[in-house]
Amino acid sequence: MPIELNNVVTSFHLRKSVIYAVRGVSFTVKDKEIIGIVGESGSGKSVLALSLLQLIPRPPAIISGEAVFDNVNLLSCDPSQIRSIRGKRISMIFQDPLSAFNPFMQLSDQIIEPLIYHDRVSKKEALEFAVDLLTQTGISDAHHKINTYPHQFSGGMLQRAMIAMALITKPAFLIADEPTTALDVTTQAQILDLLKMFQQKFLMSIIFITHNLGIAATFCDRINVMYAGTILECGVTNEVFRHTAHPYTKALIRCVPSLDNPADSLQMISGSLFDSSQPLTGCPFAARCDYSNEYCRSTPCTLEEVAPGHASACVRIKKGEISL
Ligand SMILES: Nc1ncnc2c1ncn2[C@@H]1O[C@H](COP(=O)(O)OP(=O)(O)OP(=O)(O)O)[C@@H](O)[C@H]1O
Ligand code: SF4
Ligand SMILES: [Mg+2]
Repeated sequence: MPIELNNVVTSFHLRKSVIYAVRGVSFTVKDKEIIGIVGESGSGKSVLALSLLQLIPRPPAIISGEAVFDNVNLLSCDPSQIRSIRGKRISMIFQDPLSAFNPFMQLSDQIIEPLIYHDRVSKKEALEFAVDLLTQTGISDAHHKINTYPHQFSGGMLQRAMIAMALITKPAFLIADEPTTALDVTTQAQILDLLKMFQQKFLMSIIFITHNLGIAATFCDRINVMYAGTILECGVTNEVFRHTAHPYTKALIRCVPSLDNPADSLQMISGSLFDSSQPLTGCPFAARCDYSNEYCRSTPCTLEEVAPGHASACVRIKKGEISL
């Protein structure tokens, strides 16, 4: 099921400052498509995801724009409407599984809760399905383990339990916020395979958030590169990697560790993220970009197509002044 985002803005209005976490994000996730959102820590990925499901308290946040799902604007629909969608038609895998589960409740009760709330099935039926799902996620002896508490699960097992909880209602849309970040590479690969398997089984669309470009490259159909609350580049995954059209994306790609060139393997982007309490006047990446000039610092960034299905917000790329 598709979602269409149109100029989504989320800002936190604190006592002495305003934090501009998401500064006008627009993109569409098509039916059965996996869209990646990549970017450094603090770029607004989680705030954007939480905004879509009305999981950010208002106040202090003010959220505007549209996120249209099945003719409903998720950002402004009434509480009962979002409750009927959240956890049923759109599910979320949260960034930190340990804090997403209640430490005082058995996993069984937490995993089946969305199914009992939305589909009003009996507890026995819900538990059977939960055990089946947990087994499919690779947890052995699931009918015993489901009766334990979150602290008795390892990080990888909790991530699987969270996937089972998110998928128990067979949602049409999944938002996965860094679902593999805390895991070792082998478990990461297993979780990604698992998500792909369920995506094909339930014909889901997915927003997949990660700061790891390597993972996005293998998992996503299209990629949005996010920085300072804005999208700086977006396009079909291969196109973004082969014909990169923004210096920030290029810098992120350079940071992906390479086993072929261990000497180059620990690259970084110098400087720090754009201050989220400052309004944007020009390119947010200007202070860290090797190609910046006065024009970049004063010209607002807007995404424009540089090739079919591929857009960049870099004014110098768009004018053909630089190539990467
Ligand atoms: N509740 C809040 N109140 C005020 N500011 C917030 C709040 N939540 C997030 N922010 C700010 O919004 C910005 C974006 O945060 P967000 O959590 O979306 O980053 P992220 O891209 O998900 O980073 P990470 O990769 O570390 O998860 C940051 O500057 C953060 O400090
Ligand atoms: S607009 Fe200028 S500062 Fe921003 S990425 Fe492009 S060249 Fe760099
Ligand atoms: Mg986050």
